[in-house]
Amino acid sequence: MNSFKPGLEGVVAFQTEIAEPDREGGALRYRGVDIEELVGEVPYEKVWGLLVDENLEPGMPDPEAYEPVSLTGNAPADLQAETARLSAVWGLKKLVDIARLSAQMMSIVAKSAAVHDGRQPAPDDVVAQGQTAAEKFLLRWRGEADPKQVQAIDTYWICTAEHGLNASTFTARITASTGADCGAAMSAAVGALSGPLHGGAPARVLPMLNEVASTGDPESYVRDLLSRHGRIMGFGHRVYRAEDPRSRVLKRTAKELGSPRIEVAEALEEAALAALRELKPDYVIATNVEFYSAVVLDVAEVPPDLTPAMFACARVAGWAAHILEEMRTGRLIRPSAQYIGPTSRSLSAV
Ligand code: COA
Repeated sequence: MNSFKPGLEGVVAFQTEIAEPDREGGALRYRGVDIEELVGEVPYEKVWGLLVDENLEPGMPDPEAYEPVSLTGNAPADLQAETARLSAVWGLKKLVDIARLSAQMMSIVAKSAAVHDGRQPAPDDVVAQGQTAAEKFLLRWRGEADPKQVQAIDTYWICTAEHGLNASTFTARITASTGADCGAAMSAAVGALSGPLHGGAPARVLPMLNEVASTGDPESYVRDLLSRHGRIMGFGHRVYRAEDPRSRVLKRTAKELGSPRIEVAEALEEAALAALRELKPDYVIATNVEFYSAVVLDVAEVPPDLTPAMFACARVAGWAAHILEEMRTGRLIRPSAQYIGPTSRSLSAV
């Protein structure tokens, strides 16, 4: 039997044709295409097509008319519940249903975000004026879509659409391997990213930027944090041993969009990288996706508590691609556990 690896780190559980981070090269490719080539060239819904169908066309469709039963304004919880519910309402049996489900999931998040803000989601005729999924998302949520905010969300969604076998994608594949329908597999994936360790970490970057902006002294901030054995949010990665390619793209986008936080972010980045190099000379600790995601989502005025749901919207593409791959090629997933409990004993000994 193979030896136990906590967290399954380094264990190869699947073969995939979708994507896997290129650890050494610091590049991320979807079905072989570098994300650098996709951002600004095609919108998110076409990237969904590339990941799911290996074809940009037709891409993710528009969501069809559907009224969620009751939204609380907590977008991840609303998304998980409504996605599971759609399995029953739509009778999601066929693989093809994953396209309409993906589109509907984006719409549910936009509607839940409107409820969170105390607004009614915009009616379908207003949403229909949008050209891309990101524009329609903003129109549904706020009734208006500033082009810079559309670009910010589209870029963030493309950069985070897929990243190999993370916790939520693994969950989606496990569920799909049991023969469950795509609504069950998608809602299980949403549940897996509701914890603080996966998805949504940009929320923890903004408070750091605020503090550095108020003191104007990034070096002291970093030194104090590290002396308390704290972790600098947005730096380091389990997989990459080079610059995270998504960070590169997001930083460029934040600059292009004229983010008012870019100066503080760059000053903090410089101080953090220098301090981490000194503290851990044997490791490559670089800027990860969360750092400039926070800055880009801030351009779109996405409140920190909505960032996990924004990540879920992006990852709908990766989950859909993996669910289909699992349904086509998969075998029921049933690993083993190493038993380390008591040896045989009688009930009276308990
Ligand atoms: N701040 C301070 N120290 C850090 C650090 C950070 N951002 N990232 C790594 N380190 C330290 C670790 O504590 C470890 O030190 P140790 O050997 O004394 O325990 C050392 O550098 C090597 O860490 P490494 O093995 O490369 O990383 P990991 O796999 O343990 O952790 C993360 C990876 C992402 C969990 C970690 O880098 C982290 O906590 N980053 C901050 C949170 C964050 O940005 N999360 C979003 C990730 S996309």
